[in-house]
Amino acid sequence: MQTPAVVTTVDALRAVVGNWRRAGEKVALVPTMGALHAGHLALVAEAARAAPRVVVSIFVNPTQFAPHEDLATYPRNLERDLAALAPAGVDLVFAPEVGEMYPEGASTVVTVGGPSQGLESDARPHFFAGVATVVAKLLTQCAADVAVFGEKDFQQLAVVRRLARDLSIPTEIRSAPTVREPSGLALSSRNAYLSADDRARAAGLHAALSGAAEGVRAGRSAESAIATARAQIEASGFAVDYVELRDAGTLGAFEPDSGRDGRILAAARIGGVRLIDNVPVTMSKSVA
Ligand code: PAF
Repeated sequence: MQTPAVVTTVDALRAVVGNWRRAGEKVALVPTMGALHAGHLALVAEAARAAPRVVVSIFVNPTQFAPHEDLATYPRNLERDLAALAPAGVDLVFAPEVGEMYPEGASTVVTVGGPSQGLESDARPHFFAGVATVVAKLLTQCAADVAVFGEKDFQQLAVVRRLARDLSIPTEIRSAPTVREPSGLALSSRNAYLSADDRARAAGLHAALSGAAEGVRAGRSAESAIATARAQIEASGFAVDYVELRDAGTLGAFEPDSGRDGRILAAARIGGVRLIDNVPVTMSKSVA
């Protein structure tokens, strides 16, 4: 079990990845902000299935935090993250400083329309420009064949897919399902901020979304299923930012009769902690 090697500069990253590619080895990238948990390790496992060489980036990206958000207190512990990655077969960690990613005078911002509209953007208007800018940089810096993102951040995943397509970035974007606690609570680095009480009540978020998804699949109207889910989430002790059913592919409006899959996405706050989650609404008929 070897702790992965760490590079902190783009030149060093390119040198290592370039050697692998010249040797004909495929490379998969898992972008993270550190504070790694089992959800990240599932992304790493997916990356390892996709390519023999796995790079994990660890960078708490300042441009995706608003001034009032938790950039200063976001959990950072590189040693612990490296120890978590050691048994996972990660070859390289790219852990740049802010100045490496955003050199003095950096003035290029990537904004994605389409799937970035609404949902998270209503509460966090700065967020996707920060994510898209840093992900565009990571994808071009690493030049990986594959990059893996979690379905937990479903809107982010859609934004990243759109950005890679629109900018002709030749990295294949793959996803991995959300990892949950036995209670159904989606794993998130921000769960560390929850009190024991709120953590127990937070399981109500996933239960409510799953119930709504089941209802829509069974033919209940989206309005009624979503209204019930919202009331249940509030009854668990949350203040709801949004609960919405969208088309799973485009994140545009969901059309129940189109046969296309939907996704119910939600964000809600409990005990000062903002959690997001989402569940699939599978409408495609299974072939007997
Ligand atoms: O999902 C995250 O951890 C971040 O948004 C990402 C994709 C690493 C960009 O900073």
